[in-house]
Amino acid sequence: MKKKEIRIVFEPSGKQVVVGPGKSILEAASKAGVSIRSECGGRGLCGKCKVIIPSKTGLNPLTKNEKSRLTAKEIEKGFRLACLSLVTGEAENVTVIIPEESRLEKRRILIEGFERDVSLEPAIYKVFLEVPKPSLGDVRADAERLLNVLGEKMEISLEVLQKLPTVLRDGNWKVSVTIWNNQRIIDIEAGRSDESYGVAVDLGTSKIIGYLVDLPNGDIIRTATIENPQLVYGEDLVTRISLTIEEKEKLQELHN
Ligand code: FES
Repeated sequence: MKKKEIRIVFEPSGKQVVVGPGKSILEAASKAGVSIRSECGGRGLCGKCKVIIPSKTGLNPLTKNEKSRLTAKEIEKGFRLACLSLVTGEAENVTVIIPEESRLEKRRILIEGFERDVSLEPAIYKVFLEVPKPSLGDVRADAERLLNVLGEKMEISLEVLQKLPTVLRDGNWKVSVTIWNNQRIIDIEAGRSDESYGVAVDLGTSKIIGYLVDLPNGDIIRTATIENPQLVYGEDLVTRISLTIEEKEKLQELHN
């Protein structure tokens, strides 16, 4: 009897996923968070998604495309193309070995290079202010008092307005205000605070890199990288676009 749920185990990571019959190994890998090279977006054209599947049970027979893209020796060793190997439900468990050349984590990310001097003009900056205390002769509202010190016409966000009286008094009328785009106060802190950070995102076709940047001096504090999840649909944008034109349902998958 055919199984409705097939467990696929990816080696060497040991990651597992359960899929239904008819799913390709490439789709299962994507669901399991396992990255396999797929330059052609899973159309059986590039031959880059080679995997080793030791057992033939539970899979569709070798396709014509696989026969033309795999050598006789590879076929003998159990190589298949992940995008053309479909689980049929005849086996409950399928083990898939991903050889090094088919793995995406082998790639290196270039996050350093020549740097040019640029003048920093962050949209967000902080200023330290000493606000005059109220007195019998000065009964201005807190917001007015703050804006008068700044000497600029600015908006104040609702969140700042709500905490303004408390922060002013907690800081003994010395505060640091965070200003966006020279036009809006978006935060206020008691006392002096010079730290402000921003995040820059480099959205690449294969990698997405996030940089945590110290805004006052432009230093990069941390860098984090993930693989672009769209990579399994093709290495380049044109492949991904043409895939969504040929298979409309892929568009939603790419959005997800
Ligand atoms: S042959 Fe290109 S992804 Fe499988």
